[in-house]
Amino acid sequence: MTQAAIDHRNPHPVLGTNDITGLEFACTVGANDLPIGTTGQHLAAQAGSVDDAAQDRHHPLTTSRRLTHVDGWRHFYPRLEHELKLRRLDQFCLPNMMATKSRRKDGLMKFIEVKGARVPALGFGTWPLSGAACSRAVAAAIAVGYRHIDTAQLYGNEAEVGAGISQSGLARDELWITTKLSRDHLTANAVARSTEDSLRRLGLDQIDLLLIHWPSRTVPLAETLEAMTRLRQSGKTRFIGVSNFTTKLLDEAATRADIVCDQVEYHPFLTQRAILGAVKRHGLFLTAYSPVARGRVPRDPTLQAIGRKYGKSAAQVALRWLLDQDKVAAIPKAGSLAHMQANLAIFDFDLAPEDRAAIDALGGDRRIVDIAGWSPDWDRPN
Ligand SMILES: NC(=O)c1ccc[n+]([C@@H]2O[C@H](COP(=O)([O-])OP(=O)(O)OC[C@H]3O[C@@H](n4cnc5c(N)ncnc54)[C@H](OP(=O)(O)O)[C@@H]3O)[C@@H](O)[C@H]2O)c1
Repeated sequence: MTQAAIDHRNPHPVLGTNDITGLEFACTVGANDLPIGTTGQHLAAQAGSVDDAAQDRHHPLTTSRRLTHVDGWRHFYPRLEHELKLRRLDQFCLPNMMATKSRRKDGLMKFIEVKGARVPALGFGTWPLSGAACSRAVAAAIAVGYRHIDTAQLYGNEAEVGAGISQSGLARDELWITTKLSRDHLTANAVARSTEDSLRRLGLDQIDLLLIHWPSRTVPLAETLEAMTRLRQSGKTRFIGVSNFTTKLLDEAATRADIVCDQVEYHPFLTQRAILGAVKRHGLFLTAYSPVARGRVPRDPTLQAIGRKYGKSAAQVALRWLLDQDKVAAIPKAGSLAHMQANLAIFDFDLAPEDRAAIDALGGDRRIVDIAGWSPDWDRPN
């Protein structure tokens, strides 16, 4: 860590608040015991658990990759070990995406740029997280490096997502927050009212991206999009878009409003060539939901075999395959710290063309999310 990383508003001489959160996170949690991010003032209070963890040779964090700037901390903040009662600081590694701004700018996160939006390509899905576990997971996800959080009115967890964001201590402008209008909130009045409710629950003044969650069969698309456009003009949301829209619906939406995104199911077992073509035609980006196919990707032998070549898991291979595609973002959900970290550790290898082709060849029509009465007439895979 360099002196340039010092945040002078922070009482700690070297580490910015975000770093402190990451440090506390790194030192106090186990794989399934997600932390609530706190500021540096709480470090001393956490020392007991730090000490316990330090003595545990099998602590999950000790087996992860160690970051070089741990040494930076030692150099710039010599009292750290004493304050945390750490006996073997170098036994601790930081979550490998506990990144400072400068590290992320160095390329540990890919960004998608569309119509003035700059979206971290790998986001954190929050369905079906709920309650305190959801807040802890969101705070932990931010601590390990996620800067893009996906929620929805339908998930019933916007308040908990908001609490996690607040606990993270990260500046608002460092985060990209997406939420979605439920199907019963698509009339003009409901769009305005329910978005205010979402903002209140999230504890935010502005959403980054507001989506129509599922197309309506009763409310005219023009009415919903006009109401969303008004919200954009009033600053309640920076961008608007849609989710679960087919090419036909997307063509209509893109002519009626200045949308930026279609969020659809996309993973190696579901070909989405038609939607990708429409997204490109309209200058949008595609967000892949269920990108690890809710556990089917990690079990796939082809993806596992490809992963072995790179020392990566099947899930990491699939996420890299998605993010290598032009204007494609992905929002895997991970309730466990190990998965959260693994899903971010996908920017340090390159898939060979033959491996990309082998993953392309897995494609087909193995759709997971298909809700009778809600789903549109999906595009056929081609
Ligand atoms: N727009 C829509 O209609 C829509 C629909 C569905 C989902 N979404 C959004 O997309 C997000 C993700 O989709 P999803 O939750 O359906 O599916 P997903 O992200 O493909 O799968 C989540 C499951 O995969 C596991 N997992 C994650 N990373 C893993 C890894 N590296 N190795 C092994 N297993 C791993 C998770 O386990 P652990 O939790 O145990 O870590 C969890 O059980 C949702 O959270 C939601 O935000 C949107």
